[in-house]
Amino acid sequence: MGVFDGKVAVVTGAGRGIGRAEARLLAAEGAAVVVNDLGGERSGEGADQRPAQQVVDEITADGGRASANYDDISSWDGGAAFVQQAVDEFGRLDVLINNAGILRDKMSFNMTEEEWDAVIRVHLKGHFVPARHAAAHWRAVSKETGQPVGGTIVNTASESGLYGNAGQLNYAAAKAGIASMTIVLARELDRIGVRVNAIAPVARTRLTEDLAGGAMEAKDGGFDAFAPENAAAGAVWLASPLADGITGQVLKIQGGVAQIMGGWRPVTEVTDDQPWSVATLAERRDALFARSDPGVPPFFPPVEA
Ligand SMILES: NC(=O)c1ccc[n+]([C@@H]2O[C@H](COP(=O)([O-])OP(=O)(O)OC[C@H]3O[C@@H](n4cnc5c(N)ncnc54)[C@H](O)[C@@H]3O)[C@@H](O)[C@H]2O)c1
Repeated sequence: MGVFDGKVAVVTGAGRGIGRAEARLLAAEGAAVVVNDLGGERSGEGADQRPAQQVVDEITADGGRASANYDDISSWDGGAAFVQQAVDEFGRLDVLINNAGILRDKMSFNMTEEEWDAVIRVHLKGHFVPARHAAAHWRAVSKETGQPVGGTIVNTASESGLYGNAGQLNYAAAKAGIASMTIVLARELDRIGVRVNAIAPVARTRLTEDLAGGAMEAKDGGFDAFAPENAAAGAVWLASPLADGITGQVLKIQGGVAQIMGGWRPVTEVTDDQPWSVATLAERRDALFARSDPGVPPFFPPVEA
């Protein structure tokens, strides 16, 4: 018996890396999986059907059920098509994992319009479009049955967006937006019984292979802390009934450490009964910055300008 027996999942960008591990884990737990992947380069250029097909072959060889989809998840019609594919081929939709992503790192002063647009499109619109079509499907099902649908969405944020990583203005803006979208979607879809959470993974994939200077390599004989499967377990747990009641949350997994991340909230406060002026705010500076929090933690080293 698997946790997802009888359930149907779609995973975007599941031809490689973390998405592949998520699709395989969902299938091993009994889900039928639509494996989406455009199959482009790390920067998003090009297309190749082989990565998605390969993962479908791996799942079926293990006795699971899967179907390949090669659409660009940031295209309106593509997002609609692979949600529909789950319903047409497997009869329903229970889980959407938004995972597909690309990188085009540059310092802000060197970033081109195209580098900005491509990363914002794939991550931000590429989360919105599948979520929008899945939500419309679930809303229709809920209206028809008069019942909550029990669907789940897991988005993929990044500590780059939560902490702000120099050299990734486009990517960090998109990932912070995804964390925020997770909260909005959780609030909107709660009434139809859909939970929405996000992971902030850290894993050894082609996106990170040149960033961590070998620090993510597997150690001989030990726990492979940066294996994509380690981060994928977080997404698959959040998608499962074992996470019932959890919504609007961001779970970071880095090696053997799992953390729930907190969002923007007041950390200090000053008050006045007069209109604020430049001078009165400046007078309260020490009170506003009297905090024990050490500040922004270090992340990957910034890329070269
Ligand atoms: N690896 C990490 O440490 C790390 C850290 C934080 C966040 N993430 C996020 O995890 C997710 C997965 O990344 P990964 O590290 O496994 O990288 P990866 O490059 O191994 O996998 C990403 C997959 O997404 C696919 N893809 C890209 N654009 C697509 C599109 N428009 N339509 C359909 N498929 C598309 C690619 O073909 C690729 O197979 C990304 O959202 C990434 O930003 C990864």
